[in-house]
Amino acid sequence: MKHACFVSCGSYLPERIVTNDDMAEIVETSDEWIKARTGIHQRHFADEGELTSDLGTKAAQQALERAGLKPEDIDLIICATTTPDLTFPSTASIIQRKLGVPVCQAFDIQAVCSGFIYGLSTINAFLSSGQAKRALLIGAETFSRILNFEDRGTCVLFGDGAGAVIFESLDGEAELQQRGIIDTKAYCDGTLTDLLYVDGGVSTSKTAGHVRMSGQEVFKHAVEKMGQAVVDMMAKHSLSVDDLDLFVPHQANQRILNQLMRNLKLPKEKMISCMALHANTSAASIPLALNLAVESGRAKKGDLLMMEALGGGLTWGTALLRL
Ligand code: UT7
Repeated sequence: MKHACFVSCGSYLPERIVTNDDMAEIVETSDEWIKARTGIHQRHFADEGELTSDLGTKAAQQALERAGLKPEDIDLIICATTTPDLTFPSTASIIQRKLGVPVCQAFDIQAVCSGFIYGLSTINAFLSSGQAKRALLIGAETFSRILNFEDRGTCVLFGDGAGAVIFESLDGEAELQQRGIIDTKAYCDGTLTDLLYVDGGVSTSKTAGHVRMSGQEVFKHAVEKMGQAVVDMMAKHSLSVDDLDLFVPHQANQRILNQLMRNLKLPKEKMISCMALHANTSAASIPLALNLAVESGRAKKGDLLMMEALGGGLTWGTALLRL
């Protein structure tokens, strides 16, 4: 049996930083409100002409450099994104070209803020079944392109960025005890699409549209569904929060994470929180948090990590990984 093992990660945030005070010049809001209600201090916005594939390529290049790998060492590229460069081809194809990866498997995953969890689930299937040897999973977004800058209820919440993780297929159960993707579980309840969606698209308006969200409703579902998914994943593997070294969650709202920590009785030291730095970057959120955890030394080789996310769909899910 083969297993998907973590090799390296990287990230990229566009240079342009937009503070809460900057947002207050665009919509009726304040630094105080945004910090208190969300924990967000700033976000990065891509410049015009700077594409999702550019962000994803830079994050992937860093992951490759850190692993000492060459583009030709990769045989699967998956990009989780809601904001692709083009309707087609996939952003993964464009990243493949920009990285100089020779002919391989490459495609996008669209599960909005849960995209990275769905991506982990997919690369786990490819690597453990022998369909790929070394996979590059990228979460990349230019979410600023689909924000309505007249809607203060959404436009202050999101930012642009990318994170990339390389996994490789290794043999043996013993190896998995030491490191690798242990399990993933992805969910979707399509009856809840109206709570968080974009009011445009190829087949409807032929435009990209803008984000619309029933914030309070999504908040309640996030606390309830991510909490239950974590409990279910821990129960399946006979784990308690004491067994987990680190939580690497989707970065949407500090109040959601606070509520999760209370409900799960999880100490603050075990939670990675970085939405203050870059706001909600949708599919890029978890790999950005993971990269920060690895760079800062908070996530070390052998650590047991729980990842979780919830987003449009509604989609949600968890992933259990030994680094
Ligand atoms: O990544 C996908 C998953 N997304 C999420 O998990 C997001 C989940 N939802 C949330 O994070 C929160 O619901 C929000 C941050 C979106 C909103 O926070 P809230 O505490 O639920 O605020 P609210 O929507 O209940 O609004 C409270 C008040 C309202 O004013 P009134 O009606 O009480 O006078 C809003 O109009 O805050 C007002 N408000 C704002 N005020 C200043 C809403 N947005 C803003 C704003 N600045 N940006």
